[in-house]
Amino acid sequence: MPKVTIDGISIDVPEGTTILQAARMIGEREKADRYVVPPTMCYYSSLKTSGGYCRTCIVKVTKGSERDPRPIPKPVASCRTAVMDGMEVANTTDPALLDARKGVVEFLLINHPLDCPICDQAGECDLQDLSYEHGTEASRYEFERRTFDPIDIGDTIKLHMTRCILCYRCVKVAEQLTDGRVHGVINRGDVAEISTYISQAIENDFSGNMIDVCPVGALTDRTFRFTSRVWFTKPVDAHRDCGTPNCKGEVVLWLKGNEVLRVTGRKDQWGEVESFICNTCRFEKKDMAAWTIEGPRKIDRHSVISQGHYQLKREQPVLTGPSPNVPALAKRNEFKDR
Ligand code: SF4
Ligand code: FES
Repeated sequence: MPKVTIDGISIDVPEGTTILQAARMIGEREKADRYVVPPTMCYYSSLKTSGGYCRTCIVKVTKGSERDPRPIPKPVASCRTAVMDGMEVANTTDPALLDARKGVVEFLLINHPLDCPICDQAGECDLQDLSYEHGTEASRYEFERRTFDPIDIGDTIKLHMTRCILCYRCVKVAEQLTDGRVHGVINRGDVAEISTYISQAIENDFSGNMIDVCPVGALTDRTFRFTSRVWFTKPVDAHRDCGTPNCKGEVVLWLKGNEVLRVTGRKDQWGEVESFICNTCRFEKKDMAAWTIEGPRKIDRHSVISQGHYQLKREQPVLTGPSPNVPALAKRNEFKDR
């Protein structure tokens, strides 16, 4: 098994592991702060061929391998570079690398509007976190920005192309989870854009997952838009017996009082959906009675959402769930602030 050392921490990993995957393994093993793991904006472990577009995950390879210890002269995309035995990598320990990542963030923000105060993604936006952690305070870009009018793609999804960073994740979702992809990136370079080609609606069982994988506010849920800031909602884990093939019905309900404002997939510590959900669960089950509630969701991110503390009020629990291990609460159960 190749041994790789990242920021001075060594780990043995299976052949073919990328530097990013090795960094995540170290992160999990050491229960380390997420800064030891390179940030990602386009890589998504459950989407094949994702990664390699955004360059936020760049690292410096200071020693190529045991057999050939020469460093790689330029930063490499950690999501696309496999480890070699004896490789040594700098992520947070190389100031020049951190400076290069700042440059990447500056490029990603060239056309991105500063509309966080009115963007539904605010509070759970990867680009917002990335700019805060790795960005510069001002852009040097002086030319006219690209702008687009928001368009509806189907009844449930709104596309704000102005916010898109062309990470291709939604394209991979459409390609790999849905039948008959009708959208993609058209044109190239600074005129590239996500398009449904003549605004054709995206209608298939799993299209809503594009909203979850979008790292910015370019694809938003039309059934949730402008109903609440995410940090005013209370996320709870819930499940239902969903008959759609490939949908486990395991979701997060975002509540205000007992009202279900939105339904999303569950994300892991890397911000990736654990199990993709169908559009029926996402858009058509906005009623607590349709779900078996498991308990408050811990949002494991450096975001205002994780500041919400609340618990189930269990005075009148009614066990109705299909799973014997998961106490289910009836619709009338309420949530209260701690
Ligand atoms: S719309 Fe979102 S998911 Fe799709 S390419 Fe743009 S930023 Fe990525
Ligand atoms: S996450 Fe590696 S290039 Fe985008």
